[in-house]
Amino acid sequence: MPHNFLALADHTPQQLRTYLDLARQLKLHPAGFRDACRGRTLAMIFQKPSLRTRVSFQAGIYQLGGQGQYLGPKDIQLHRGESIADTARVLSRYVDGIMARVFSHQDVVDLGAYADVPVINGLSDLLHPCQVLADLQTIEEKLGTLAGRKWTYVGDGNNMAHSILCGGALAGMTVAIAHPRGYAPDPDLVTRARDIAARTGGAIMITEDPAEGVADADVVYTDVWASMGQETEHAERLKRFKGFRVDGKLMAQARPTAIFMHCLPAHRGEECAAEVIDGPQSVVFDQAENRLHAQKSVMVKLMGDRW
Ligand code: CP
Ligand code: NVA
Repeated sequence: MPHNFLALADHTPQQLRTYLDLARQLKLHPAGFRDACRGRTLAMIFQKPSLRTRVSFQAGIYQLGGQGQYLGPKDIQLHRGESIADTARVLSRYVDGIMARVFSHQDVVDLGAYADVPVINGLSDLLHPCQVLADLQTIEEKLGTLAGRKWTYVGDGNNMAHSILCGGALAGMTVAIAHPRGYAPDPDLVTRARDIAARTGGAIMITEDPAEGVADADVVYTDVWASMGQETEHAERLKRFKGFRVDGKLMAQARPTAIFMHCLPAHRGEECAAEVIDGPQSVVFDQAENRLHAQKSVMVKLMGDRW
């Protein structure tokens, strides 16, 4: 297993399977893992806001016998010019793991390079691997299998799109991304996902047509149109993303058994219609719950001693 959890693409299909199987056990038998990270501390660096990531990591490490320490944007010296390298080296003298939510992906890469303890990516501008690990757990729970399923993401070619591309490919799924013109996913990540898919039996499709994207989909997924840090682009994006809202009409083009997913937070009436996110096909709160179990799996593997 890699020492850090920075990107799903750093893992083999077998390592992904290990995390998913352990996440399932953690959900079924939480009491069996009460001491798995006994006495361990997780430092949680947040350069951006969070509900799910912050609370699920803090509750998760506590449930494993350890403790989390929240380090918000103004709490540590990063915003006053202390380097990532020094922050990583100092934290490594105190704690057993570092989870970080950052703007620049390079910051989590540098944390990983300079820390002596495992580093977990809690979202960067490029990737959101913890979310997609929980999403894969959720899809497997709901549909029974991952390989061969079609996972369609409709919206911005952002951190969620990138992690879905790599995570879905690693699981042998067909991943379709339907994005407005000018908001395509990063071409290097698309190439990386295609390389992974070629080895796992998965496939990658990139389109500017939402209806083509969702045709025969088993999973329809969306995310906000303006991510954290893009607030000034919100009005422009509302115009450019017209036609990319997941509503009942678009969902009807997927398989009748399709599930609807969203990493949350959601904006009803923008990227998704209330009828969909609050409707019978939506699994968004199971998905949010699985953040807890999936991340406990990562912490047990990287910070626990018996695993
Ligand atoms: N989905 C997700 O990461 O939510 P938060 O931004 O609330 O952590
Ligand atoms: N793309 C979103 C995901 C939030 C969980 C953002 O980066 O703000």
